[in-house]
Amino acid sequence: MNQTIDLLKAHRSVRKFKKRTVEEEKVNAIIEAAQWSATSSNYQAYTIIRVNDPEKRLKIARLAGGQKWIEECPLFLIFCANLKRSKDCWEDIDPAYLSNTEMFITATVDTALAAQKAFVAAQSLGLGGVYIGGIRNDLQTVCELLNIPKLVYPVFGMCLGYPAESPDQKPRLPREVILKEDRYHEDGDDKLLEKYNRAMKDYYRERTGGEKEDTWGRHCGNSMMAKTREYLGNFLKARGIGVK
Ligand SMILES: Cc1cc2nc3c(=O)[nH]c(=O)nc-3n(C[C@H](O)[C@H](O)[C@H](O)COP(=O)(O)O)c2cc1C
Repeated sequence: MNQTIDLLKAHRSVRKFKKRTVEEEKVNAIIEAAQWSATSSNYQAYTIIRVNDPEKRLKIARLAGGQKWIEECPLFLIFCANLKRSKDCWEDIDPAYLSNTEMFITATVDTALAAQKAFVAAQSLGLGGVYIGGIRNDLQTVCELLNIPKLVYPVFGMCLGYPAESPDQKPRLPREVILKEDRYHEDGDDKLLEKYNRAMKDYYRERTGGEKEDTWGRHCGNSMMAKTREYLGNFLKARGIGVK
């Protein structure tokens, strides 16, 4: 249809990178693109931390469950939701309201929108990458390592660089399952989900040389149960985020 749609539809996560530095000009373009995201009430409630220090990278890679690409990628960014700037700069506010769930959602959504723009901008420049939710295994350590204060929390990381792999695209849910007209319903979803489960099973089998045969439901179930991260509620509360 057009180059933007083609780019968006060519998405895949990349976890292997060439040993080629990302030019500063491109890094700047990626960050500027992120800044032009829509943002709730123009709050811009996020901060991006570029992590260059190899020791910090190593520690983050370990706490994220041994994700080597955090150490190896040329560009590693951590996207943080930031309500501290709000406390410091916004006028005539009762800072207690910054701890509302509403503000937690607002800052997290702002952060994710900026990140997605950064990601797409990077892809448009010939780069690839992967989001890193694995940092949420231990946000206390991430905050200490990166000097992140209260009212700020890291939502996820992002590895970027020139791709040294081009994995097959992971099939997505059928459009009819995720798009409804005028009202929510699940009519016909069963059959479509069954088909999707089979497609994912084939995908995993092919991608792993027969080692993994999970359906989508099995994969997601295992994934969720492996990372419940139950400490997060109390952790965020202690940071003054999303507690009401
Ligand atoms: C918020 C978020 C966190 C993610 N965290 C990780 C991660 O820690 N490690 C990883 O290898 N992939 C991670 N991913 C990548 C997803 O596993 C991947 O996007 C998904 O399986 C779909 O595959 P695709 O991106 O190749 O289409 C994350 C993706 C998102 C959006």
